[in-house]
Amino acid sequence: MIAAMGSNRVIGKDNDIPWHLPDDFKFFKDTTKSHYVIMGRKNWESLPAKLQPLPNRTNIVITRQADYKAPGAIIVPTLNAAMKIAKEAKEEEAFVIGGGEIYRMALETSNRIYLTEINEDFDGQVTFPEFDKTEWKETSRVHHGTDDQHEFEFDFVTYEKNLH
Ligand SMILES: NC(=O)c1ccc[n+]([C@@H]2O[C@H](COP(=O)([O-])OP(=O)(O)OC[C@H]3O[C@@H](n4cnc5c(N)ncnc54)[C@H](OP(=O)(O)O)[C@@H]3O)[C@@H](O)[C@H]2O)c1
Repeated sequence: MIAAMGSNRVIGKDNDIPWHLPDDFKFFKDTTKSHYVIMGRKNWESLPAKLQPLPNRTNIVITRQADYKAPGAIIVPTLNAAMKIAKEAKEEEAFVIGGGEIYRMALETSNRIYLTEINEDFDGQVTFPEFDKTEWKETSRVHHGTDDQHEFEFDFVTYEKNLH
């Protein structure tokens, strides 16, 4: 999974992301480039037209609507179906890219979380799920300070699921 959240776990407001942090967006782009990206229908709809589909990535959209159209993306009815497609294509690291409903579903089967932890509370209805810190180990943390393009400080954090 890859996500960015505020200190109160908020990740989204009114089908948008409530901050603008270009270096986090760049991190997302660099990390997911040429990989499979798996997202919920609402996340897909929140993307600006020029990023539908997210370029240089295989986009998979999860929806219960059998007749849903998302030009440039593969449509699937379940997370399992998405993972099966990525596995069959020999993808080594498929990314679940949100939003909240999809992160909640994916927490159990995921084994790594790239989480940008922003040092600020935000207004918003959508949150990143709580996860058990005894089950997940922090393996990396890189700090990013504020500057004229980054109003809030944040950390790029990686968590790995304990495999025993
Ligand atoms: N900060 C971040 O890192 C980040 C990342 C991504 C998104 N976001 C934000 O997150 C928000 C969107 O998140 P969200 O929780 O509202 O929506 P979402 O997770 O993107 O999508 C929800 C949709 O996924 C489909 N779905 C959910 N569970 C399903 C299941 N079990 N089987 C089949 N389909 C299922 C349904 O589509 P249908 O209704 O079509 O059936 C559901 O309406 C936006 O504000 C976005 O900007 C933030």
